[in-house]
Amino acid sequence: MTSKGHFITFEGIDGSGKSTQARMLADHMRDQGYDVILTREPGGSAGAEEIRALVLQGDPDRWSAETELLLFTAARRDHMERLIQPAIDSGQIVICDRFADSTRMYQGLSRGDLRSKVDTLHDLMIGREPDLTILIDMDPGQGLARAKGRQGTEERFEDFGTDLQEKMRAGFLALATEFANRFRIIDGGRAINDVAAEVQAVVTAHLSSSD
Ligand code: ADP
Ligand code: TYD
Repeated sequence: MTSKGHFITFEGIDGSGKSTQARMLADHMRDQGYDVILTREPGGSAGAEEIRALVLQGDPDRWSAETELLLFTAARRDHMERLIQPAIDSGQIVICDRFADSTRMYQGLSRGDLRSKVDTLHDLMIGREPDLTILIDMDPGQGLARAKGRQGTEERFEDFGTDLQEKMRAGFLALATEFANRFRIIDGGRAINDVAAEVQAVVTAHLSSSD
């Protein structure tokens, strides 16, 4: 059993099945005897969860695009300092539902072109990429229908509709090419267990290649 820490993230458009697959992977890895931390962004630590409420609830237009970027980055810094880095250092497997690639997409693309600011802030304040990123790719219409099926108050980005989701899907696929060494693309438009089986295979291959 490995004692080396690993940092695995899930990315994709809203409703693609990230949270479902992250949870199933965590359960599977625990069954295999690994020490697993399952977490999410924005949030994942007490301070970052407070910031989550600021960015995902209330009137979204009270933040400029730049302020929103700073808030997401502040949340990530707290999450990284308090939870992610200590867990990796102690040999745990950290599975995170969304991370910096979501900022590259949502803050980087949705309200003008802020990508270079996103990357500059990331280098300055976060300075670490995941070891493995699983992109759950799917048709935006299907993703939006699934996301709308959920109840809740955090509708900030889901409300942007299909055009933005199309742009995000294309953007995520482009990121997978840009960071080809750590990205794996999985077709999310299938039955939950079929997607989960492929996720497990990808993670098992990653762990055995990095031991
Ligand atoms: P995300 O975290 O990417 O927004 P979720 O995991 O919350 O997506 O899934 C959104 C909704 O779709 C949930 O109600 C979930 O139960 C359902 N769902 C997830 N994966 C599948 C799948 N492969 N097929 C059908 N429904 C799914
Ligand atoms: P999440 O709870 O993962 O939503 P979903 O389950 O619908 O995918 O994330 C909430 C929203 O936050 C989502 O619409 C994407 C957005 N987001 C950003 O805009 N920037 C970020 O850096 C992160 C992590 C999320």
